[in-house]
Amino acid sequence: MPSVKEILETMEYGPAPEAADQVMNWLKARARFGHYIDGAFTEPGETFDTANPATGEVLAQVSQGSAADIERAVAAARAALPAWSRLPGHERAKWLYALARHIQKRERFLAVLETLDNGKPIRESRDIDVPLAARHFYHHAGWAEILEDEFPGAQPVGVCGQIIPWNFPLLMLAWKIAPALAAGNTVVLKPAEFTPLTALAFAEICAEIGLPRGVVNIVTGDGATGAALVDAPVDKIAFTGSTEVGRAIRKATAGRDVKLTLELGGKSPFIVFADADLDAAVEGVVDSIWFNQGQVCCAGSRILVAESIAPVFQKRLATRMAKLRVGDPLDKCTDIGAIVAPVQVQRIRRLIAEGEAQGARLHTAPVQLPDRGCFLAPGYLTDVAPANILSDTEIFGPYATVTTFRTPDEAVTLANNSRYGLAASIWSENVNLALDVASRVKAGVVWVNSTNVFDAGAGFGGYRESGFGREGGREGMREYLSWPGPKTRPEAQPTPIDAAPHPADKPAPIRAEAPIDRTAKLYIGGAQKRPDSGYSYAVLAKGKEIGLAGLGNRKDIRNAVEAAHKATGWSKATGHNRAQVLYYLAENLAARAEGFAERLKEMGVSKPREEVETAIRRTFWYAAQADKFDGAVHSTKSAHVTLAMPEPFGVMGVVCPNDAPLLGLISMVLPAIAMGNRVVAVPAQSMPLAATDFYQVLETSDVPGGVVNIVTGAKDELARVLAQHDDVDALWYCGDEAGREMVESESAGNLKVTWTFPNRDWRGKDGQGREFLHRATQIKNIWVPYGE
Ligand code: NAI
Repeated sequence: MPSVKEILETMEYGPAPEAADQVMNWLKARARFGHYIDGAFTEPGETFDTANPATGEVLAQVSQGSAADIERAVAAARAALPAWSRLPGHERAKWLYALARHIQKRERFLAVLETLDNGKPIRESRDIDVPLAARHFYHHAGWAEILEDEFPGAQPVGVCGQIIPWNFPLLMLAWKIAPALAAGNTVVLKPAEFTPLTALAFAEICAEIGLPRGVVNIVTGDGATGAALVDAPVDKIAFTGSTEVGRAIRKATAGRDVKLTLELGGKSPFIVFADADLDAAVEGVVDSIWFNQGQVCCAGSRILVAESIAPVFQKRLATRMAKLRVGDPLDKCTDIGAIVAPVQVQRIRRLIAEGEAQGARLHTAPVQLPDRGCFLAPGYLTDVAPANILSDTEIFGPYATVTTFRTPDEAVTLANNSRYGLAASIWSENVNLALDVASRVKAGVVWVNSTNVFDAGAGFGGYRESGFGREGGREGMREYLSWPGPKTRPEAQPTPIDAAPHPADKPAPIRAEAPIDRTAKLYIGGAQKRPDSGYSYAVLAKGKEIGLAGLGNRKDIRNAVEAAHKATGWSKATGHNRAQVLYYLAENLAARAEGFAERLKEMGVSKPREEVETAIRRTFWYAAQADKFDGAVHSTKSAHVTLAMPEPFGVMGVVCPNDAPLLGLISMVLPAIAMGNRVVAVPAQSMPLAATDFYQVLETSDVPGGVVNIVTGAKDELARVLAQHDDVDALWYCGDEAGREMVESESAGNLKVTWTFPNRDWRGKDGQGREFLHRATQIKNIWVPYGE
């Protein structure tokens, strides 16, 4: 240890280690941990070590949860559910307050334990992880208190399986457990195998405050334990971790009617414009990619910097980087602690080596690393070509890539050139530019002139392959609530497709008084298109052929998706403009009510006039909602206006029920386009003609080409193509169980958001409502500094 004199001479910080005795004694007294099930710790079973990554020292042994342990835990949660969910919100709030207070009471203890188990600097666990975890319980105690007023009619989802990663062990636990309990659910949580200790300490807190048994269960173990939890009879799975495992969970839960939220990886852009406050931006990098050794899902791992300032920015970055202190995580002066485990160090090294072999240049801080433990020198990478592995692979270590751009448009293109979409950080002193770019980046969280700001009051979660669902804020509460489901209705079985070459004749436009065309085409990009197959199929009503519909195939879906992609103007249009167009659409539909009613009658639809009338009213309703279903400004703890903006997904697939031929289509397409999505719709297989008549109304209503595309044909075949399509961002499917499972499973490729449900009474209240609008949007949280 240097003497005071030496310290004064070098002006170097002296070591200031946080005491760990209390935690070490706690660990020594326990040594081997069982699971926490039904309000008590089990006897330790087969165990594995959990070690301090800074030293390699084994801290404790924890049990490897078996399928039987998971079964017991889920049964305990199930048994506890009725009493817990029936408690008045005020009573549940008291428990959440107690958890928050007890976390606060043990702040120092939990911070040290977290740092020992994870390797993160004590400064971070003490000032960020633990206080935010307590804040999460406080905030959600409030939601429990006001639940019935704020979410009328809502019920808990049930038993929630929660799987968390190792980068923010206690904080992720709080993100999962607090909203779940507030909403009246019970939980089984599996912490990550590298960092189970704070979860076990939390279990002790639950026992200590006397939380009713079975409400919180903690089962430790590795991926196999997690997989067993996913397979267990739970009502919801909430997962944070790698995209690969997220994808596997999407597949494993397909068709099981399990509510799912996935918070996955990222490769978030950190955009520095020429007019940015450069020193602030450099400090931002420190908080962004060197925070928690870069093991942060929303880390700004792709620095995009305006070309004109790149040299000076990089120089200042290198100067700042050289001052980072790497070493003992328990030292209060340490900036960069240890990577969580040797296997992660190897993984990061391998990736960097691969990137370097492909031409990337690594610049690291000139630091002396401790001679043992999982330490890496922080750094950044330049000369990273777009095809370099480091361009789109999550490094999950203290390394960001640095790339330059010339114009804001180029910055946005680069920012969005990723399969992920978790977060973005934008640095500019020009608020117009920053907010314009914020609206254009594909990310669930956008920080303006700030980075890695979190709060229980704001939603957090991704776009694209960063997953779906939100944690925190009002939108996070919705993920733990359910509403009484709609009354299901048996769906008409599709008549088998009897294909024949498509006639070449040109259809006459529909007019109420004119005879209705009998050879409908597809509608793609605002034009009627012959199906690629060259085939059509007979549309039968009461056994009689009443017309022909195009037999769409994979190629037609691809063309339709492409057309929808091009129609970006619709998503950018204001709600007011969309409302005007949809209002006009409703009027035109009303003008043709007679013709549609005739068509429906011909198809054997009962009370056809009523169906048409409802379809018209529904179109007006969604037209009205286009500029009313809006966002919020969240009340976050820091000095920010945090805008929660509902944004359209982009391109949505909509697979309609095989009956209610007009109303089913209107009910599913209108909310999607009202919110700014462009749609590829597959109408009722056996009764597609009302839909093909509908495109003629679209044509006369100023709905831009490509906004609604209609492909008729074999429902599930077309649904499969939509589910597998990487350029479809969300997919709604109304149909039978087999179809629902297929859609959820096939959509795992790009992790598109799906909403699948059985047929419902489209004429009643279940056919329309805000739920459709929620499902047609994803929330982007934009943090703008304010008032400080
Ligand atoms: P992981 O995704 O395997 O682990 C996260 C959690 O999922 C752990 O609790 C683990 O036990 C559990 N798990 C693993 N396999 C499972 C399965 N088949 N079913 C259910 N649960 C399962 O992440 P890992 O392997 O620890 O880290 C690998 C990479 O993943 C990292 O380098 C990083 O790129 C990414 N990652 C991203 C995180 C994020 O916050 N977005 C967090 C952790 C890892």
